[in-house]
Amino acid sequence: MLDRPHLLLDCDPGIDDGFAIFCALRFGNLDAVTTVSGNVSIENTTRNTLWLLELFGSEVPVHRGADRPLRVAPVVADDIHGASGFGDRPVPVTTRQPEATSAAQAILEYSNGGGATIVATGPLTNIAHAIEADPTVVERIEHLYWMGGAASTGNVTTHAEFNAWCDPDAAAVVLESGMALTMFDLDLTRQVRMGQREIELLRAAGTEIGEIFADALDFYKREIDLGVIEHPMHDPCAVLGFLRPDHFTFRASNIVCSTTDGDERGRTVVGFDDENLPHYLAVTANDKEVIELILMAILDTDNNQ
Ligand code: BDR
Ligand code: CA
Repeated sequence: MLDRPHLLLDCDPGIDDGFAIFCALRFGNLDAVTTVSGNVSIENTTRNTLWLLELFGSEVPVHRGADRPLRVAPVVADDIHGASGFGDRPVPVTTRQPEATSAAQAILEYSNGGGATIVATGPLTNIAHAIEADPTVVERIEHLYWMGGAASTGNVTTHAEFNAWCDPDAAAVVLESGMALTMFDLDLTRQVRMGQREIELLRAAGTEIGEIFADALDFYKREIDLGVIEHPMHDPCAVLGFLRPDHFTFRASNIVCSTTDGDERGRTVVGFDDENLPHYLAVTANDKEVIELILMAILDTDNNQ
């Protein structure tokens, strides 16, 4: 049996966040989930998280996080993820409630004692709040794996990726904090795409979970990204980049995020030439292997393997 490293997942489900949650449950030791507003409102991302965990049969604690970015006005991506955040499916409210502790507080407590790993698949608002509340958290988090940023072409503007654009100030706080961080940007996640083949495989399983994710993927792939109808699986890349790093390659880098308004908002610039390179950029993914792992997470939810 492979090692199952511990993690806290900070997310904004979101269809690809849903796939990422299942990857974390299936291949890692998921200790807690924190939610953030991003793809949809904080009410919806929190409700979706509780529902997805219940589908898996998990009682992992959920901490509700920021309902808006640090400084800019909130925006959502319900055109991509649907009004509920999970396609056109109405998501039921579960009986389980989020914990009383906020996401930022949970991140601070989780990192007590050091050595904590966080995977973030949404805007970095909660992590920035944690840093602003207690800057020593930067050393206590061993590594942050973040799906966000665009080294070349964005998906909201020419230059900016959604998670960076949604809360550019939070991205800048985290990137400038000195926290050890690996970024899984759009150049990376566009290498890992799922479409009709995967929808059919998910349906063929004949399970409720397979059907739910097939419907979500069917909805998701309506966004025609760079002219193809297979959708990048952004968020699972960050989870699997931590849990299955052998399927990825990384390059030391220095990443900054622009907080200026207009065309530059949320633009991440990646440099490779400085002397001290504080970050890593994930550069390549073995797409076939990564897709098989994502399918396994949805279709084979036996957590004991
Ligand atoms: C990122 O933005 C969101 O829409 C996705 O969930 C992913 O985290 C991709 O730009
Ligand atoms: Ca996301």
